[in-house]
Amino acid sequence: MTMQTPPPSTPLIPESAPFSPEQRAWLNGFFAGLLSLDANVAAAPPGTHPLQNGQAGDGDDGEAPWHDPAMSLDERMKLAEGRPLPRRMMAAMAQQDCGQCGSSCEEYSAAIAEQAEPRLNLCVPGGKATARMLKSLVEEMGGGVIDPDEEAAKEAARLPKSDDARPGHSRDNPIEATFVSKRRLNAAGSEKVTNHIEIDLSQSGLDYEVGDSLGVFACNDPALVDQIIAALGIPPDFPIADKNIRDVLIEETSLSPAPDELFQLISYITGGVRKQKARALAKGDDPDGDAETLDVLAAIEKFPGVHPDPEAFIESLEPLQPRLYSISSSPKAEPGRVCLTVDAVRYPVGSRTREGLASTYLDNRTAPGAPLKVYVQKAHGFALPKDGATPIIMVGPGTGIAPFRAFIHERRETDATGPCWLFFGHQRRATDFFYEDELAEMQAAGTLTKLSLAWSRDGDQKVYVQDKMREHAAELFKWLEDGAHFYVCGDAQRMAKDVESALTDAVATHGNASADDAKAFVEALKLAGRYQADVY
Ligand SMILES: Cc1cc2nc3c(=O)[nH]c(=O)nc-3n(C[C@H](O)[C@H](O)[C@H](O)COP(=O)(O)OP(=O)(O)OC[C@H]3O[C@@H](n4cnc5c(N)ncnc54)[C@H](O)[C@@H]3O)c2cc1C
Ligand SMILES: NC(=O)c1ccc[n+]([C@@H]2O[C@H](COP(=O)([O-])OP(=O)(O)OC[C@H]3O[C@@H](n4cnc5c(N)ncnc54)[C@H](OP(=O)(O)O)[C@@H]3O)[C@@H](O)[C@H]2O)c1
Repeated sequence: MTMQTPPPSTPLIPESAPFSPEQRAWLNGFFAGLLSLDANVAAAPPGTHPLQNGQAGDGDDGEAPWHDPAMSLDERMKLAEGRPLPRRMMAAMAQQDCGQCGSSCEEYSAAIAEQAEPRLNLCVPGGKATARMLKSLVEEMGGGVIDPDEEAAKEAARLPKSDDARPGHSRDNPIEATFVSKRRLNAAGSEKVTNHIEIDLSQSGLDYEVGDSLGVFACNDPALVDQIIAALGIPPDFPIADKNIRDVLIEETSLSPAPDELFQLISYITGGVRKQKARALAKGDDPDGDAETLDVLAAIEKFPGVHPDPEAFIESLEPLQPRLYSISSSPKAEPGRVCLTVDAVRYPVGSRTREGLASTYLDNRTAPGAPLKVYVQKAHGFALPKDGATPIIMVGPGTGIAPFRAFIHERRETDATGPCWLFFGHQRRATDFFYEDELAEMQAAGTLTKLSLAWSRDGDQKVYVQDKMREHAAELFKWLEDGAHFYVCGDAQRMAKDVESALTDAVATHGNASADDAKAFVEALKLAGRYQADVY
């Protein structure tokens, strides 16, 4: 690096961080300099950053080299081999720290290891593979899977659910809001259906800040439920507790993917090859190469003529989970309202279109004025800098634009003076340029200083947001030198990693740094709360 930095008074980079002594000294100096220029850095809270994953058990060095959402479960478990059980449980999580379980990957795994959390299926992005791995690790712990009834009291007392006990501030305590409207953001001809959703919070008084997400409780499609009931030959009014089976299936049970317990149940009531297949599926094997595609209806159709006991069938299913959406409004600009930017998930499998639960509920299974159960998931380390003069760079392709719309509105309402640069991208400019008019207005008003656009399906070659970052690498690095905070939101598996590489390359090229120093620089930006991600 060519830049001179003053020596640090207090070391900012922990001794456990994966840097050489020279790198650590350089980074400490660099950040001491930057922090003295920008006293308003909203540093990431302890424990939210990979370098700070320090709650290690005996025989563990506190690092979490598997904390990378782009790694496969096998790779992560291999890296965690030989570590204490709680660390291996953490490695089993999807590493997105997305908050869908109610906390971070580290906190959720610690709660399971302490037997304070009996539910092993809360890691939504990890899906069945994570739940299975957790089950086997819990069995390894001795005593087998924790009995939910026995542990319920313990759970209520000890689970680190939320630091906020107010109604509407955790998944265990949602409030009733009102669905107001949806407006499609794509023009006709787009391959996507992405909606701007408005929800009224005025009756509940629920508050939020930009950067937070909203948890939404949706219901299953009644048409899908009717197909399941018909395939099982159960009368729709069959009583289950104080409801009928149709309502229980619509309101309480997850219908995708088919859980291991359902295959186990089917294995008990079939024979021969079918029994063997059901048993194999229950163990996580894939005898016919179709396991990935088996939702509850497909599982039942795979074993035609099975008639499980209705109560046992319901018990074999997983409970419905809420879905999180990055909030795309500022409460200062729209008091009493919250907005979301939601892509409706639909994809064909064979002759049937599969529909994502919550995104299609918001698209076409609710109506203006209808109640909607929601809660605010507080952001941990995803917020605007406190000082409105601090420059910000935001990278949000597709629905990743959501929190940045909120940021831009908030900056306008608070008369923030800092430069503001948005990288947005999607398939086609003519059909997928979300909030085009609004962004133009924000540019005209000076709130949005720079807008860089990447259209992936307009030309012969894909152009992605990271290509635009590379094109503007010198300016990007200059903004970082000027103290800019960097944000990325959207796809965790591929985009977020590619964006990080593009930023690291910009630092290497224009900071005249080696690849290792550039990497260390980006890691240190994260540690200082100046590189924040909201990825899913
Ligand atoms: C913190 C956070 C913020 C988020 N913010 C947003 C946001 O602003 N906007 C937004 O739209 N989403 C956002 N999401 C994602 C959102 O929570 C849901 O995961 C998404 O809407 C899908 O949920 P669903 O209930 O509609 O679908 P589900 O019923 O959960 O089905 C989705 C599942 O279907 C499968 N699937 C999807 N597409 C395909 C395919 N083509 N082929 C095969 N299988 C497929 C995958 O297994 C996928 O996990 C966010 C997630 C998190 C964690
Ligand atoms: N299961 C998955 O693999 C996956 C991936 C992404 C999103 N999702 C889900 O899809 C929903 C919404 O997605 P979305 O509407 O936000 O749009 P999206 O599908 O993420 O696409 C947005 C834009 O990003 C581009 N893109 C694809 N790969 C990229 C990469 N490696 N780097 C940078 N850009 C890349 C896309 O281009 P092209 O499509 O033309 O390549 C498109 O132009 C969410 O529910 C999300 O969870 C799932």
